[in-house]
Amino acid sequence: MEFENLITDLAHRLTDGTFVRATFSQPRTKADGLMRIKAKPIELKGELHIQFEEQFERVLNHHNISAAGVELFLTNVLMRFKQVQAEFTGETIQIQLTKKFKVSWKSSVTESSRTADLSHNRKKNYLLEEGTPYPFLIRLGVQTADGRVKKQKHDKFRQINRFIEYIDDALSHLPKDRTVRILDFGSGKSYLTFALYHYLHIEKGLDIHVTGLDLKKEVIEECSEIARDLNYDRLEFLVGDINDYEDETSVDMVVTLHACDTATDMALARAVRWGASVILSVPCCQHELFSQIQSPVLDVMLQHGLVKERFSALATDSIRAELLTLAGYETQLLEFIDMAHTPKNILIRAYHSGKQPSPESIARYKAFRDLLNAKPFLENELKLDI
Ligand SMILES: C[S@@+](CC[C@H](N)C(=O)[O-])C[C@H]1O[C@@H](n2cnc3c(N)ncnc32)[C@H](O)[C@@H]1O
Repeated sequence: MEFENLITDLAHRLTDGTFVRATFSQPRTKADGLMRIKAKPIELKGELHIQFEEQFERVLNHHNISAAGVELFLTNVLMRFKQVQAEFTGETIQIQLTKKFKVSWKSSVTESSRTADLSHNRKKNYLLEEGTPYPFLIRLGVQTADGRVKKQKHDKFRQINRFIEYIDDALSHLPKDRTVRILDFGSGKSYLTFALYHYLHIEKGLDIHVTGLDLKKEVIEECSEIARDLNYDRLEFLVGDINDYEDETSVDMVVTLHACDTATDMALARAVRWGASVILSVPCCQHELFSQIQSPVLDVMLQHGLVKERFSALATDSIRAELLTLAGYETQLLEFIDMAHTPKNILIRAYHSGKQPSPESIARYKAFRDLLNAKPFLENELKLDI
């Protein structure tokens, strides 16, 4: 196919009602920083438009082009990129252009009878969509190069998406007039760290600086390399212990996803000390209370090891939530992901309110703590005046 025919053909297909979405990638020049363009159909004032989203390193530009203007706009887009992946109802096409604009076109029939959702601000099921290749998810082994989520990574993909939804909900609590400082404690392989960077910086264009911290040197080196390769220059990875991390004077959002045992408490304590506006934390294995808990009135439950273990975990999170409330946070325990996918399914969400605790709430907390004979690590770390 000739380049000119490609333009006409593709422009026609983008506007004939079967178009779902497309990504234009592999820029011919990196000089202006334009990395890729995504396109999708939208409806504006009752008329079909194609929205082209230009993705620069720090900025997203949107152009809503009427059907009549698509061919001209597309000409410029196709001059700038060497690869196109486009999805239509029942068909996916992949186009590769050479240096000299020779066209290679591959088409595959897909079973999906998916049609485009034209509402401009539609609520997506997932903030990161299956079928859209995200460079960081490909590098982290969650997606294949064509954007398919690998079978064994579906749970991870779901978890990342769920966490990003909670981050999206928290946006109004973050400052808008300066760089937002975000820390991911116990970042590990850093699926979440990359995802929140992608979502907040690449997709939403927010001014952020993100740090992932973990004990594991090799993992951190690998993550740093991926961040370098993807030009994620506001994302850094550091080797270190949460307990020793004192580098910051002010942090806006602290997140943890399955940071082991009391590592979660250390992270919460750091967040409170900085007065972070938002804390989102999904705890992991919780052994602390299991060995402390003692309460004759609860023996009917605690005599069973299995029940004791589950009760200890729930009591630990309840105590954490209560302590955060006493420390001036509006705190909720929310379902992170349904039980079928992971038993670690509670998310602690805390927004800073600065509210002083009432004597009654302090007494309520102490009564519960003493009933269990608990000596919570977090209470000790927070050094609250209670
Ligand atoms: C289960 S992994 C979760 C990793 C990642 N957040 C995720 O969800 O994929 C827990 C991580 O916490 C890290 N970790 C545990 N204690 C830590 C501490 N005191 N300081 C820093 N990292 C810690 C571990 O090295 C591990 O990588």
